[in-house]
Amino acid sequence: MSRGSDDRAIGVFDSGVGGLTVLSELRRRLPDERFVYLGDNARTPYGPRPADEVRAFTLESVAWLLGQDVKLLVLACNTATAHALSAVRGRSAVPVMGVVRPGAVAVTAATRTGHVAVVATAGTVASGAYVDAISEADPTLTVAQQACPDLVPLVEAGELEGRRVEEAVAGYLRELRAADPEVDTLLLGCTHYPLLRPIFQARMGAAVAVVDSAFTTAVAVEDLLDALLARGSAGGRGSVRVATTGPVEAFERVATRLFGTDLPPVEAVDLGSLTAVAADPR
Ligand code: DGL
Repeated sequence: MSRGSDDRAIGVFDSGVGGLTVLSELRRRLPDERFVYLGDNARTPYGPRPADEVRAFTLESVAWLLGQDVKLLVLACNTATAHALSAVRGRSAVPVMGVVRPGAVAVTAATRTGHVAVVATAGTVASGAYVDAISEADPTLTVAQQACPDLVPLVEAGELEGRRVEEAVAGYLRELRAADPEVDTLLLGCTHYPLLRPIFQARMGAAVAVVDSAFTTAVAVEDLLDALLARGSAGGRGSVRVATTGPVEAFERVATRLFGTDLPPVEAVDLGSLTAVAADPR
């Protein structure tokens, strides 16, 4: 380990497979880093769940990640970030980065008209986290939101194109346009939606910027590592571990279908032991 470096891993949490969109951007930008990813597939989706349940599940899951000797934690899940970021920070001895603020940065950088919109899960929309973060970044912006509850199940079923997903996106965007016809920037505020980017882009039209938080989250993580003098020193030979609270085969099947085959063997994390660790956080 050279001076100013830290070879401990970066923990990445998501409710399931969707956070692999964030993990792949992190790996692209930070090839010297070691990553350990946990998907809470046993209890996904988080989007329709009440806030306190999402908070409890997130705290249990990140307790496992914090036990893996990480130097930094990334909540790749928008819903978990929206409901649990401050609670996780309260329990973590290492810095915790969510995806909402980086998403807000992406929006403020892209808009010209000052009218922006966020599509996300029902939970994220209800939390108002994006509206707050965007207003904090630029109080002059007008923010419309739209929950898209049908999209995560469609993506997880492998429907990245076709009539059903086209119609679902079109319906949601119709409501969004009705709420604010001047929107020039659309933020995909859910891990799964970047997989539907071509449909969102086609339906919004070329004049609308369609952005997500994966890139800006990776940039924010890189900045933080630099500020902390905590970069990994592997010389481009970083590594990744992937774990799930759900069935390993199902995770591998969905992840491979959605993201290709670039995955290490997936580890199983027993949900029972995970809840026990969280209940007794010594
Ligand atoms: N990871 C969630 C998010 O980004 C989407 C999937 C879920 O509802 O759990 O909001």
